[in-house]
Amino acid sequence: MRTEKQTEKEGFGIHIEGLRKRYGKGDTAVDALKDVNMSVAPGEVVGLIGPSGSGKSTLLKCLGAIIEPTAGWMTLGDETIFDGGWKSTDLRALRRDRIGFVFQAPYLIPFLDVTDNVALLPMLAGQPNAQARQRAGELLTALDVGHRARAQPSELSGGEQQRVAIARALANQPPVILADEPTAPLDSERALAVMRILNDMARQYNTAIIVVTHDEKIIPTFRRIYHIRDGRTYEEAGEGRAL
Ligand SMILES: Nc1ncnc2c1ncn2[C@@H]1O[C@H](COP(=O)(O)OP(=O)(O)O)[C@@H](O)[C@H]1O
Ligand SMILES: [Mg+2]
Repeated sequence: MRTEKQTEKEGFGIHIEGLRKRYGKGDTAVDALKDVNMSVAPGEVVGLIGPSGSGKSTLLKCLGAIIEPTAGWMTLGDETIFDGGWKSTDLRALRRDRIGFVFQAPYLIPFLDVTDNVALLPMLAGQPNAQARQRAGELLTALDVGHRARAQPSELSGGEQQRVAIARALANQPPVILADEPTAPLDSERALAVMRILNDMARQYNTAIIVVTHDEKIIPTFRRIYHIRDGRTYEEAGEGRAL
């Protein structure tokens, strides 16, 4: 087991080997993942690209311990979390402490304002409320949505909601961030701003980040890309264009 201090310094890498996921049984079974192999170093931001239905969301959900793979092997840092079955004893703690999710749909809590949506998890984790809200404000400002800090989610545009959801995923400084098409509803400038923040985050906190996308605006920013097609992954070098 790593201590918190080691975790902060070294970060958590991601390794996936031979991952498979079958939904359902018998005649109606769908083999969504057939052979997924992937490594992300601490501090690295990789792209995951593939056509609709190729298994991108399924892969993120397996890695985020939201659904159970059918076979294969996954590690976070030096902990094997899955080896033909879950090895991690507390999946809720794994999700809460290690994984920051940016979903395709933002899923903000409707009765909390924007600031408290972002500050909620850090407050639940024991951070003083004022400190959590201050950090939330900083993240919202960095994501160009600081002026909406006191608004209710229902009062925001789709793009604003998505930027709040990104701030929320970053608020706990999780060692792993899984983002499912985070820039889809954003214009070019804001999409690149989000990628800049994710890259800064990766560098500063050694966060390992996977970004599912088919957004042409951000694809050139990745140094390394995994393509997924029909449940199988292929690695490719990216342009790594500076942000
Ligand atoms: N809960 C589910 N039950 C059955 N099949 C599913 C389920 N979720 C996804 N699938 C199927 O698995 C395949 C991969 O889906 P998904 O991971 O959502 O792809 P992507 O995110 O790349 O569009 C698709 O054929 C999809 O229909
Ligand atoms: Mg998807």
